[in-house]
Amino acid sequence: MKKIDRETVQRILDTADIVDVVSDFVSLKRRGANYIGLCPFHNERTPSFSVSKSKGICKCFSCGKGGSPVNFIMEIEQLSYQEALRYLAKKYNIEIVEHEMSDQERQEESQRESMLAVNAFALTHFEKNLTETPDGREIGLAYFRKRGINDAMISRFHLGYSLEQGNTLHQAAVAKGYNEKYLIDTGLCVRTDRGTIYDRFKGRVIYPVHSISGKVVAFGGRTLKSDKTVAKYVNSPESVIYSKSRELYGLYQAKQSIARKNKCILVEGYMDVISMHQSGVENVVASSGTSLTEGQIRLIHRFTDNVTVIYDSDAAGIKASLRGIDMILAEGINVKVLSLPDGDDPDSFAQSHSAQEVEDYLQANETDFIRFKTRILLKDTNEDPIAKSRVISDILRTIAVIPDAVTRTVYVAECSRAFAIDEQVLMLQLSKLIAERAENIERQTRQSEAHKSIADITTENQTEPQADTSNAPDQSAMPTEKSDPIKSLDGRVKFLEPFERELLRFVLKYGMTDLCEAEDEEGNPIQLKLVDYVRYELQKEDIVFTVPVYRRAFEKVVVLADTTWPADKENCRARLLSEKKHDEQQMLEEIRTANMSVSEIKAKEIALTTRLEGNFNNGMADFAEHYVEQRLCSSSDDEIRLLATDLVSDRYRLSKIHSKYSKIETERDRLIELVPRAVYELMYGILQYNIKETELLLADTTDQTTMRELLHKYVEMKTTQQEFAKFLGERIVAPRHKNKTSQTL
Ligand code: CTP
Ligand code: MN
Repeated sequence: MKKIDRETVQRILDTADIVDVVSDFVSLKRRGANYIGLCPFHNERTPSFSVSKSKGICKCFSCGKGGSPVNFIMEIEQLSYQEALRYLAKKYNIEIVEHEMSDQERQEESQRESMLAVNAFALTHFEKNLTETPDGREIGLAYFRKRGINDAMISRFHLGYSLEQGNTLHQAAVAKGYNEKYLIDTGLCVRTDRGTIYDRFKGRVIYPVHSISGKVVAFGGRTLKSDKTVAKYVNSPESVIYSKSRELYGLYQAKQSIARKNKCILVEGYMDVISMHQSGVENVVASSGTSLTEGQIRLIHRFTDNVTVIYDSDAAGIKASLRGIDMILAEGINVKVLSLPDGDDPDSFAQSHSAQEVEDYLQANETDFIRFKTRILLKDTNEDPIAKSRVISDILRTIAVIPDAVTRTVYVAECSRAFAIDEQVLMLQLSKLIAERAENIERQTRQSEAHKSIADITTENQTEPQADTSNAPDQSAMPTEKSDPIKSLDGRVKFLEPFERELLRFVLKYGMTDLCEAEDEEGNPIQLKLVDYVRYELQKEDIVFTVPVYRRAFEKVVVLADTTWPADKENCRARLLSEKKHDEQQMLEEIRTANMSVSEIKAKEIALTTRLEGNFNNGMADFAEHYVEQRLCSSSDDEIRLLATDLVSDRYRLSKIHSKYSKIETERDRLIELVPRAVYELMYGILQYNIKETELLLADTTDQTTMRELLHKYVEMKTTQQEFAKFLGERIVAPRHKNKTSQTL
């Protein structure tokens, strides 16, 4: 039997958001903690179909149908359980791993259950220790009391105590008939090298970790000793039932409140969660001291679109966590941040303030994340223009991860005000970042395919003269983000990089392709290659690529065009022509000797010639198209090789799209429109940067003459900019170019 692998199923169940799933079929309105809409399973005029985000289920109060996301899909699409899972996997882009159920898996299944059972036993055992043994009361309970935790919280979070003596849990469990194996597998007990067994958490207070469905999957144990050589926390090891990156401490207890308040507060530790709860703020979860994972963010997203992250006031910590927050934004979650008064963490703050005070403080001090980040980073720039532009680009990068376009626009407007920079400039840069990001993401998800795709690109055209591919990049050498050399560049280079990259991509992918017709000096029509077009356009404006590796790569292509290309092209032409001739003769012979009427033969001959002509042209076009990438992808210059591999590998994606929706024009069909545009966008980018620079200079200068000169320059650039913007906006490109270019030829 083929079966979707259990981890995949879990991922699907964890990811599927009932509101989201139902919304694809029913228009929902919010009603308190729930959503309601018209039932899709029967005809009705007033809505009785209710969806509970926190419970993860839907139900029609009139006809009774509904259930979990899987049930809902099964019902509405009339699918089996497995099919419904596949539907959801597709919706959420979850890759399905499937296989036969093996004996081992059946065993694992029962192992899981056994481990959960042992944990459940341990939970009760620890809880009883805390309140029913003298040590538990005098040590464990006294500790919680000292930290201000009341009984309601102790029972709500199932806090406990593990006795100091060697292995009381082990003994109790074995006496109850639990298999020792599972005590070890869950990490509750540890076997020493000498074969003796002791309780992992002995002498510690216990914080159980509940899965979202309320099962105890792990424990955290805090030492009560102030001895610095003893680990403050000991946690359950990762196991079949516990993956740290997929759980959030407190989510089980918080989820109702998160859904009701439509907000999740994120803190660091166990005590932060518990103390906040106790003060009445219950929509709190902890990342347990590590940075959030995507899985954890998705868990939160099932309940709300709003996250507030609480920091302690320590500035270094704030900066370190700024980066992690992009991941939350990327999930489409709105992020706010809140810093606490100096020296406080959520635990101490909640303990030393009344519930009302805590609520009020939250209300009054939450700051929108991007505003917060802007403020923090801007403080450090000291008006240094380069530092400032770096900050802008940093903030834009953050904005770029936000999936919602309207939200992005709002932030850009704000950013424009904060930095006194034209909104359009920011928008343009932003759109580059978004495109780049989309590419990166796609590349990452393609990681497993990447190896194959590179192999395809380098071996696909074996019939053509082969470049030396012996040092073609392997996957380990694939750049995971952007080529590394780019990271360390200054403001100007960094700003222009995306523009240059886009233009260079065309050159590397289609450099030798004929772009358009032009005229030579004598006015004869000639075909203009893409690389030549770009080269002349850049020369005319005195533009060189600012990113060093881009410049080198471009020069390499220019050199190829001027040196080996003409002869190689001629060889290819000769070869294709002789192939064509050979085929032609052979097939004509066949046609003529066949038993056909003269007119039939004539028709066949014409069809044949047309076909062979087409083959020949395609052969030439293919040769031209792959010429540059073949050579650069196997360049001995590491940086160029990586860059080329990186840039041309989207061809893989394009051909895929093309084959799936065959009506879509390929990029190659639109080069005459796209390439001039890329050139102009680079020019526009340069202009933007110069304008920005002038703005900064203007702000700094007090000298009247300099100011006048700058202003003059500024106005001039602004005018050009407007023309450019209009021009680019209209998307009219080609004709003007062709002539201009021919003049420079
Ligand atoms: N943590 C952990 N393992 C550690 C240290 C920390 O799992 N060795 C996690 C715990 O979830 C802890 C959180 O990180 O709650 C934050 O750590 P820390 O600030 O050191 O602990 P507090 O929660 O402040 O604990 P306490 O107030 O009891 O000192
Ligand atoms: Mn603490």
